Amino acid sequence: MQIPTHLAIIMDGNGRWAEQRHLPRVLGHRKGVESVQTIVDGCMDLGIRYLTLYAFSSENWGRPQEEVEALMGLLGTFLKKELSQLHKRGIRLMAVGELDRLPKSISKILKDIIKKTADNDHMVLNLALSYGSRNELTRAMQTLGREIAKGTLQADDITEEDIDAALDTHKIPDPDLLIRTSGEMRISNFLLWQAAYTELYFTETLWPDFSRDQLLQAIAEYSRRQRRFGLTGEQLRDAKEGHH
Ligand code: FPP
Repeated sequence: MQIPTHLAIIMDGNGRWAEQRHLPRVLGHRKGVESVQTIVDGCMDLGIRYLTLYAFSSENWGRPQEEVEALMGLLGTFLKKELSQLHKRGIRLMAVGELDRLPKSISKILKDIIKKTADNDHMVLNLALSYGSRNELTRAMQTLGREIAKGTLQADDITEEDIDAALDTHKIPDPDLLIRTSGEMRISNFLLWQAAYTELYFTETLWPDFSRDQLLQAIAEYSRRQRRFGLTGEQLRDAKEGHH
């Protein structure tokens, strides 16, 4: 089976999972954290090198205050509880997004863990927090704009690599596979630049029900796809066989 180097996931459907059971939405998120643990383990076992989870979007700040607080609480607990586990298993934690918008206590533990796990090399767990792709691209443009103003960069010399380097994800390869749960077929402002050639996989399963088995199904489907990157199938076969 072809294993993606970088898997990205839009973990959607926690709210609906709870509503279907007449439970408060927060309980859906709590159950969602259990899926996070299961899927992190599953990805480790499969040898996936980078796992990016869309944990909180720029737009999620607009949710009712008590839901935002509950999500931040869960995130804090997850980080505190998982730290030793992550470290023990050689996982390196990274984060993308407008991290200074997070509550001080969260950004502090986050920074601590990122620092502590920086030399781990089994898998990168990358959390998208207060993340929106347009926001990330806007900040990247500002970075490049400042360089132009300083005279260290010429507008006409800007390359795709320069833009890539100005993004939060600059140390992370583009995702090979993007999974979105809960039946919605949207990208929702997630990794718009980075997902240019990413394979998309949508499942009706709500995130709290997303299991190791479903992860395997998604990867099996990915394995069956032919990624052409804008080339022809013949060109790809030739490249693989070493013809020119
Ligand atoms: C989408 O469900 C999910 C979120 C907005 C948050 C995802 C967060 C977690 C799984 C828990 C915290 C994360 C970590 C890494 C510990 P939704 O509320 O949009 O569901 P709905 O569309 O059914 O309402």
